[in-house]
Amino acid sequence: MRLPTFTVAASSGLICLAYAKASEDSPYAYHETTVNNLGAPPADECFYDVTVPALLDMDYVKYAWIPLSKLSNESLAIAPHGAFVYKTTNDTLVYEAISLVPVDSPEADLVFGVSEPFCTAAKTFDEITSGEVNCSSDDEVTNERIRTGLNCWASPMSYQTEEPFVNYKKFAWVSADASKCGEFVYELKDGTGLVQHSCDGPDTNALPTDGVTDSTTATGAPSPCQTVKEHQLRVVQRLLAQPWHLLL
Ligand SMILES: *[C@@H]1O[C@H](CO)[C@@H](O)[C@H](O)[C@H]1NC(C)=O
Ligand SMILES: *[C@@H]1O[C@H](CO)[C@@H](O)[C@H](O)[C@H]1NC(C)=O
Ligand SMILES: *[C@@H]1O[C@H](CO)[C@@H](O)[C@H](O)[C@H]1NC(C)=O
Repeated sequence: MRLPTFTVAASSGLICLAYAKASEDSPYAYHETTVNNLGAPPADECFYDVTVPALLDMDYVKYAWIPLSKLSNESLAIAPHGAFVYKTTNDTLVYEAISLVPVDSPEADLVFGVSEPFCTAAKTFDEITSGEVNCSSDDEVTNERIRTGLNCWASPMSYQTEEPFVNYKKFAWVSADASKCGEFVYELKDGTGLVQHSCDGPDTNALPTDGVTDSTTATGAPSPCQTVKEHQLRVVQRLLAQPWHLLL
């Protein structure tokens, strides 16, 4: 099974990887595997709504991220990099373990782009969750969705020896926009601010910041998405080749 939002990203053609540049901005990818009960149900308020019709048709209505810091040792053996969990209409939880794989691996189910600034008005998660900073000046829904992610659950980094994670102190899954794939958001170790790695592609997920419209945050270069069609084709082929709907 795939993240519901992944299908959204693929179908809207937003995934774009060909622009990998400096290592500290490295893209990365996760493979997903359906696993047994990890025994770490997030609180109800931590779940985002599923938006992909194909998943809704199968009664998958909500999903949340589970960082490894919330997993028991026993569950960590099954899900060493954390998991996503889906809730069905009858409140059954279905766990999807995630594991880091090379971005060009055929097992790369969820691919995240280079780092981009996130909520530039804030330097820490706490400034946002405390209400001191609103990421968007006028979109209260976006602000609430960001707070949901940062409250549930921000987690210390664990695999700190690998780029790009070596520069990050803690992280959380955020779905700031229900129509997009989503993003992992990170607090930088050096205290200079927050960054996101989004599974939407670099130009499509910049958060509105006060008075700033910046579509070149990632590279400052011309659109790096020339090969997006080729990649999108690969994504669709992977989706079609994966009989995940038969596993449910
Ligand atoms: C989990 O594993 C870590 C490292 O191996 C160990 O230090 C810790 O005591 C274990 N926790 C439990 C509850 O067994
Ligand atoms: C609840 O939903 C899951 C997944 O759709 C299904 O496997 C399970 O049998 C259902 N349980 C009940 C009690 O209906
Ligand atoms: C953030 O937004 C809320 C709701 O619109 C508002 O009440 C609050 O004053 C804002 N906070 C700041 C620091 O602007």
